[in-house]
Amino acid sequence: MLIKTHAPEETSQVGRLLGNACRGGETILLEGDLGAGKTTLTQGLAAGLGVSAAVVSPTFIILREYEGRLLLYHFDFYRLEGTGRAVDLEFDDYLSAGGVCVVEWPSSAPELTPDDYLLLTIRTVGPAARELVLAASDARHQALIDALSAALEPVTMNPTTATATTATTTTLP
Ligand SMILES: Nc1ncnc2c1ncn2[C@@H]1O[C@H](COP(=O)(O)OP(=O)(O)OP(=O)(O)O)[C@@H](O)[C@H]1O
Ligand SMILES: [Mg+2]
Repeated sequence: MLIKTHAPEETSQVGRLLGNACRGGETILLEGDLGAGKTTLTQGLAAGLGVSAAVVSPTFIILREYEGRLLLYHFDFYRLEGTGRAVDLEFDDYLSAGGVCVVEWPSSAPELTPDDYLLLTIRTVGPAARELVLAASDARHQALIDALSAALEPVTMNPTTATATTATTTTLP
C-alpha cells in the first residue's frame, strides 16, 4: 500500500490509525532517511495506543517504553550501526512481550530483523511531501494494513482502487 502525505500531521494521522488497529504483538519497522518522519509517525502511533506521555526520539538511548492501551517499545537502532551491541539488547524478549515494537533504522542491525513484521518505508518527495510504502510479512501484519486501509477509505479512497488486490494508492485530503 502506498500513502502520500503532505504535512507532518498527516503522517502522524497514519500512525494513529495504525496504533488504533494494533492488538498486541506487532512489530513495525520504520525505514527512511534522516528527517523522513519516522518519529513523527511513531508519535501518532503512540496516540493511537492511548499513550499520553510525549514521545521523543530515542536515538541516544536505543529504547524508550511508553504505557498506553498496550505497551509501546520505541527502538532506534541508528547508533547500533557497527557497534556489535545488538546482541546485548535482548530484542527478542520485547518482540514476544505482547506490546507493540516500533523500530527506527532497522537496517542498522539487520541481524535483529524478526520473521514477522510490518515494514513502513518513508520517502521524502518534497519539503512537506512524503510517500509511505507499507508491506507485511505475514497475515497478522497484513491485517494491520487492511485496517488502516479501511480507516482511510471513507474519506479518501477511490472505490475502483479499493478493490485492487495489490498496491493501493491513497492520498490523504
Ligand atoms: N509529510 C510529512 N511527514 C512527516 N514529517 C514531515 C512531513 N513534512 C515535513 N515533515 C517534517 O520532517 C521532520 C521529520 O522528523 P522526524 O524526527 O519525524 O524524522 P525521523 O525519520 O524520525 O528522523 P531521524 O532519522 O533523525 O530519527 C519533522 O521536522 C517534520 O515536521
Ligand atoms: Mg527519529
